Amino acid sequence: MKILALNSSPRSDGQSKTKLMLTHLVEGMRDAGADVEVVNLRKKKIKNCVGCYTCWTKTPGKCIHKDDMTEELFPKWLESDLVVYATPLYHYAMNATLKVFIERTLPAAEPFFEIYNGRMLHPLRHKIPAIVILSVAGMPDEGHFKALSAHANYLFAAHGRQLAAEIYRPAAEMMTNPFFRIKAKEILDATKQAGRELVGSMKVSPETIARITQPISDPKAFAEMGNLFWKSCIAEGVTPKEFGEKNMVPRPESLDSFMMFLPFGLNCKAAGDRKVILQFGFSGEVEEPCYFTIEKNKINAKKGISENPDITIDTPFNLWMDIMTRKADGQKMFMEQKYTVSGDISLMIRLFEKKAEL
Ligand SMILES: Cc1cc2nc3c(=O)[nH]c(=O)nc-3n(C[C@H](O)[C@H](O)[C@H](O)COP(=O)(O)O)c2cc1C
Repeated sequence: MKILALNSSPRSDGQSKTKLMLTHLVEGMRDAGADVEVVNLRKKKIKNCVGCYTCWTKTPGKCIHKDDMTEELFPKWLESDLVVYATPLYHYAMNATLKVFIERTLPAAEPFFEIYNGRMLHPLRHKIPAIVILSVAGMPDEGHFKALSAHANYLFAAHGRQLAAEIYRPAAEMMTNPFFRIKAKEILDATKQAGRELVGSMKVSPETIARITQPISDPKAFAEMGNLFWKSCIAEGVTPKEFGEKNMVPRPESLDSFMMFLPFGLNCKAAGDRKVILQFGFSGEVEEPCYFTIEKNKINAKKGISENPDITIDTPFNLWMDIMTRKADGQKMFMEQKYTVSGDISLMIRLFEKKAEL
């Protein structure tokens, strides 16, 4: 089976979630024996359709433009058994790059009118490929894909055809958040499975779609994490890409967000087989204490005071937030007695030694 996978995201590899999902879909397709070519549309020169209808009159089936679409992509599109349209969701729709590509497939139709199943259509000049639509969105709500789905179904259902599959991943930006590493792996494994199913049967089972669209976090935690992330980008004057490249950490501004974010910086493997309790006593902006129980590679956060902490850190809240976001040097602050530690100090050093793998 010959497959053309078109990625319309303007973002490059490390950042694009369209690319992340598409890579796994394609892996599954190749596993199942398909011949797949991936094209990044952002690297191609594709002019807008100018509506001249030269492709319907003077040069039937051939566009007036001389660009990558006419010379390379349209012939490849026509030769494919299946085409994957992979797009980030922009304003509830496919992005402009993909839309421009689709508009430029007009030479595949003839100008005439025919009624097919009660719908007025232009007949097709050629046999055209089956279509899969894959999209990723920032928001966690699947409803965001409604308009895209309605459009894609109506567009590709002409001439008695139907979409081979619709693959939508909400809250896609969360997939590279280490906190959701396990969920992200399940989603990407299911996406790979979707690729295998498509090659085997030209469809994706509802079970696989359910695994791909499964919720990644509850909406409250999603909003809290997202808000802290954007506030930190604005405060530091960095874009999301720069935030990632500089390995930055969102700055907690309350006890709740501290409890949510501290596990990102804890190396819970340092606890080994032990159950370790790490107590924080705060002063200044936040005065409420909290503690973390680290056991079997999992971290559980609770407000209040534990009876038997292994390590207790007493610190001004803002100072610890500076240390967490690497604005202050933890070791230097300790030497200057800006905060105190009691209990197993060497274990504490190991816990904070490197980023946690949750
Ligand atoms: C111009 C623009 C419009 C967007 N519109 C939506 C939207 O309507 N709904 C949504 O959930 N996310 C929206 N997003 C977020 C993207 O869909 C999301 O960040 C996605 O992961 C981007 O895919 P990419 O990483 O492959 O580029 C929008 C992003 C941009 C830049």
